[in-house]
Amino acid sequence: MDCLREWPEPIVRVQSLSESGAPTIPAHYVKPPSERPSAAPAAAAGAVSIPVVDLGKLEDGADAETVKAIAEACRGWGFFQAVNHGVSPGLLRRAREVWRAFFHLPMEEKQRYANSPVTYEGYGSRLGIQKGAILDWGDYYFLHFLPLCLMSHHKWPAQPPTLRETTDEYGEELRKLCRRLMKALSMGLGLEADHLPAAFDEEGTCMRVNFYPKCPQPELTLGLSAHSDPGGMTILLVDDHVAGLEVRKDDSWITVRPLPDAFIVNIGDQIQVLSNAAYKSVEHRVRVNASSERLSMAFFYNPRSDVPIGPIPHLLTTDRPALYQPMTFDEYRLFMRKAGPRGKKLTG
Ligand code: OGA
Ligand code: NI
Repeated sequence: MDCLREWPEPIVRVQSLSESGAPTIPAHYVKPPSERPSAAPAAAAGAVSIPVVDLGKLEDGADAETVKAIAEACRGWGFFQAVNHGVSPGLLRRAREVWRAFFHLPMEEKQRYANSPVTYEGYGSRLGIQKGAILDWGDYYFLHFLPLCLMSHHKWPAQPPTLRETTDEYGEELRKLCRRLMKALSMGLGLEADHLPAAFDEEGTCMRVNFYPKCPQPELTLGLSAHSDPGGMTILLVDDHVAGLEVRKDDSWITVRPLPDAFIVNIGDQIQVLSNAAYKSVEHRVRVNASSERLSMAFFYNPRSDVPIGPIPHLLTTDRPALYQPMTFDEYRLFMRKAGPRGKKLTG
């Protein structure tokens, strides 16, 4: 695995480029015209948007109406905004605050956590190891929660001082929310509540905190290129006051208008595979802007990484045979990491 040990080029922090005040972006952030964000995002009043689902009645995944709303959203969009999700607004505010403070620390402090492509843990500025790749306009911090053997507080920032405990609390609350959602997703497929969770075996959880600095030429680049999430399910917390996430719907990109303190939930490739494509892992991307930085926290809920993941046999019929061969998440992730973000090529 020598090829995965180091980045192919010296790492430049996007935040440093942004803070340099240069009026143009370096050439290797300029996307080919077909990948650039469209000039006018669909902003018209009443424009289509991802569904909003109220989780207030979802106790242990048992409320039929809520299960139906979640399942419809995951079949049609692969995305929904969750309100009344039970995670306290105070914790969301604290989590955003500590991570925003981290990205505003002096560069030397952040560089102590510079990551490598071996595990991606730490402070990073690119995905994929292709030399000469066109890069995204964003920095990030990646860390593990579960399994515990991968978790180490020493790999998390020591500053600001409350970051570690706040992040622990956030990870624990999101894991609980994901367990409730998994039961609902399972029932939405017509399965027992515990069927989908059992297929995950021992869950893995990790998080990428994305920081998208202001960009002098936002129409030429993206904060995060089009991709689908490789894992099970993603719970995204975004800045309330600045839009940026776009979700693919047929041939267009739909801008998500974040509701205050809502989570954006989306299906990843592993649940698409387990559900034999009943639930969709949908492509999404991030647009940046010239006037505001943007912070987002993507919490990834994944199956145990060494169990084969294939379509759940109960869902297969002669009319709808298995669309995928079983593969472990470890195998899948390795393939994705080498390639870097490049739309949705694997699960179709
Ligand atoms: C991700 C992601 C979206 C965002 O981290 O996988 O899609 O709005 N993030 O930052
Ligand atoms: Ni994503």
